[in-house]
Amino acid sequence: MGAVNAVADLAVEGEIAILTLNSPPVNALSQQVREGIANGMKQAVADGAVKAIVLYCEGKTFIAGADITEFGKPPLPPSLVDVEDAIENSPKPVIAAIHGTALGGGLEVALCCHYRVAVPSAKCGLPEVNLGLLPGAGGTQRLPRIVGPEQALDMVTSGKHVDAKTCLAVGLVDELVAEGTLRASAIAFAKKVLAENRPLKKVRDLNDKVTAARSKPEIFAEFRKANARKFRGFLAPEYNIRCIEAAVNQPFEEGLATERKLFVELMQGTQSAAQRYVFFAERQVWKIPDVPEDTPTIPVKKIGIIGAGTMGGGIAMNFANIGVGVTLIETKQEPLDRGLGVIRKNYERTAKGGRITMDDVEKRMGLLKGSLSLDDLADCDLVIEAIFENMDVKKEVFGKLDRIVKQGAILATNTSALDINEIATAVKRPEAVIGMHFFSPANVMRLLEVVRAAKTDKPVIATAMQLAKKIGKIAALVGVCPGFVGNRILYARSTQANAMLLEGAMPWDIDRVTYDFGLPMGPFAMSDLAGLDIGWSKEKTSSSTIREVLCEKDRRGQKTGAGFYDYDEQRNAKPSPVTEQIIKDFMAKAGSTPRKISDQEILERSVYAMINEGAKILEEKIAIRPSDIDIVWINGYGWPVYRGGPMFYADTVGLPTVVAKLEEYGSKMGANFTISPLLKKMAAEGKRFQDLK
Ligand SMILES: NC(=O)c1ccc[n+]([C@@H]2O[C@H](COP(=O)([O-])OP(=O)(O)OC[C@H]3O[C@@H](n4cnc5c(N)ncnc54)[C@H](O)[C@@H]3O)[C@@H](O)[C@H]2O)c1
Repeated sequence: MGAVNAVADLAVEGEIAILTLNSPPVNALSQQVREGIANGMKQAVADGAVKAIVLYCEGKTFIAGADITEFGKPPLPPSLVDVEDAIENSPKPVIAAIHGTALGGGLEVALCCHYRVAVPSAKCGLPEVNLGLLPGAGGTQRLPRIVGPEQALDMVTSGKHVDAKTCLAVGLVDELVAEGTLRASAIAFAKKVLAENRPLKKVRDLNDKVTAARSKPEIFAEFRKANARKFRGFLAPEYNIRCIEAAVNQPFEEGLATERKLFVELMQGTQSAAQRYVFFAERQVWKIPDVPEDTPTIPVKKIGIIGAGTMGGGIAMNFANIGVGVTLIETKQEPLDRGLGVIRKNYERTAKGGRITMDDVEKRMGLLKGSLSLDDLADCDLVIEAIFENMDVKKEVFGKLDRIVKQGAILATNTSALDINEIATAVKRPEAVIGMHFFSPANVMRLLEVVRAAKTDKPVIATAMQLAKKIGKIAALVGVCPGFVGNRILYARSTQANAMLLEGAMPWDIDRVTYDFGLPMGPFAMSDLAGLDIGWSKEKTSSSTIREVLCEKDRRGQKTGAGFYDYDEQRNAKPSPVTEQIIKDFMAKAGSTPRKISDQEILERSVYAMINEGAKILEEKIAIRPSDIDIVWINGYGWPVYRGGPMFYADTVGLPTVVAKLEEYGSKMGANFTISPLLKKMAAEGKRFQDLK
């Protein structure tokens, strides 16, 4: 006995063979690992002295899943199913020894073992759904046979990692063993199996739990209904449900065939391709070509935030959540008290929901210190300005910060639309100035646009990115331009939406098409939610846009009970005859006759305008790569993951189609609309955004 191959080893201790995998970092099911298991099993079965086999992993985890780098490549033998058969059909009991995480294919392998033991810190899960897939190696057929269809439904559609204690309770794990003793304890367990003459328990043959559910189709109907909102638009959750249904209603082999068929469909479909693309995009987004990973960072122990309003308060919570102290600055006591009060209320609401304790609330509030003097920021390592969106005021504040805050500190602004290069002229250390553009609500939204100004230092960039990761955000590095990446593309979409209003589409038509495409809401519902009066003032209003007229009529969005829509007390939106009349009046004044605008036109003009703007952003090097733009739109605006972001979506439509359509809509796109030369060039050369590196 000894090495089976480069990643597997077989040791025999008395009657027990220990098949050990060692393929860092996570023992993923690469070809070598599969071969190691298959051959190790063969050797152990052939060895007359061996009576039971323990499958054990070195390193930080049991098999944590498929090797996703092998996706889309020709499969190399042995297949995962061959490996599973070798285990399940072994005439000698096989015991999986689980620590770390047994995920995806890893859990499917464990489910083919006859027994499973785990340490208390271990977790099991089938996360395939998150990549738009389903466990395709028997997982959907074996899991419900052991834990029952309800638990299985929850696991396969959520992809969640279930802790070992729960696994024991639901029967997925046979025994918990002490932390740090896994190898020895698994051997002891194997000996017990032999001593007690326990049967070769094959999960595939356990039918009690599935047959019990056979006459209860309501299990599935209710599950679908309860999760309809969460699953909207996604194929994979539904396909996973169908597999569990198959496990309940079909014999094991037929169920496997159903699983295989649905797996192949998902694997070959656009949704899974999009979700796998996003998986890689989320990792890629942190990489900055000229700011390598070893760029020094600035230790950030104390943070100052100026402005305790909507954004400042939300931003402060992010840092208090990870135990970093924040000094919040306002000019007057009243807004400061209000800001801190809002934060407390937010935390208390979270505590009521059970996600944190009241102790946590106090601890976090204790990390937040209010002050009315910028002088209190002198020893901060990072200051984030989140005051009114006004260039003069911001420059004044930055000028003061320059005199007060210690050298080496980062001076960040949360501006949404102002020129950060201009803000940086207010200080003598423009290299310390950077944009940290949080999205509202800042304690909830995952996206952070880190905005690199002309003179921003690399360590400042590296630190901002690292901090983003620490507070659980996903950050994209972008350059300075009006709206940066996210809002600039949003603006391109709004331009089309507003133009279509004046051609005959109603706000609810445009919103419906946007919602049906998969976004959480359309542009007008979104404006109503944010408030139509952002940037509007009674004194300067000119009645020249629909939005202005709505504000003049005190229809300022949800908060006033009316905006583009009418709202009832529960804030349910209803199309508004008032808005409709305002739109018609505008058209009459312009002498234009309404025409019927098809859903297809609404979608294409909205989305292709976004793609075009994305291409310009790439041309101007405002974003590093197309996938960063996709990350921004998925995490900041709710673009559906299963469509991979606007740039990925462009690839699925085909760039020549996008260009041809934009040309066809021509002057309707607006007087200032131009097609991006990069987009045209790529279309002509048959390229895809995914190919841009
Ligand atoms: N609201 C959003 O959705 C959003 C999203 C991203 C970025 N932003 C940007 O964030 C910034 C703040 O926006 P907000 O929505 O939080 O505004 P807000 O009006 O809710 O809060 C601004 C706060 O700053 C305080 N303030 C003003 N001048 C000050 C000064 N000189 N010193 C100290 N405090 C001062 C005000 O009293 C107020 O409490 C703006 O630049 C805005 O463009 C807003």
